[in-house]
Amino acid sequence: MKGASEMTEFIRERLEDGKHRQYGQEPVSELVHALQCATLAEDEGADDELVVAALLHDFGRLVVEDGDLSDSVGGGSWTPPKHGDHGELGAEQLHEYFSDRILFCIRNHAEAKRYLCTAEPEYFARLSKGSVVTLEKQGGKMDEEERATFESSPYCADVVRLRRWDDRGKVPGAEAKSLDHWMAKVEQQIRTDR
Ligand SMILES: [Fe+2]
Repeated sequence: MKGASEMTEFIRERLEDGKHRQYGQEPVSELVHALQCATLAEDEGADDELVVAALLHDFGRLVVEDGDLSDSVGGGSWTPPKHGDHGELGAEQLHEYFSDRILFCIRNHAEAKRYLCTAEPEYFARLSKGSVVTLEKQGGKMDEEERATFESSPYCADVVRLRRWDDRGKVPGAEAKSLDHWMAKVEQQIRTDR
């Protein structure tokens, strides 16, 4: 297990690397997407725990190799993990260091999309073509049982809020606070007693 400051540095390094990575097919980088999501969360009055979850929700995308940039990933003794579900992967990378609430939101932000598509027909109707394709890969709409299980989580409302910031945080040039601002909050949320 890394110490708190070592972990903070690892997170900062991965987020900074996201500057060079495009956020899927969207016109912003992974870093800009993370900064915008955290900013939307804070602007909406979310507490620091949820703000940090918003910043780190796609962390799993930042710990895998990214096409031509693979040479720049890692270094030292760190080996990037294999591709997998990026929510799961992000939560796995961070699980010793953050609260259950933060980890749940990171792990389940794609599930929240499936949930919203099921619970809100107008949400589904607004999905882009690309997003409908990924929805299918993510398991499509939820069935009754999955929906009930999802709704029974104490963090259901949190991850649904996060999902809406996730959907909005991809506007080129939109205002967002700096990585330094958010890293101070990350540091406060890191726990080494888990
Ligand atoms: Fe995202």
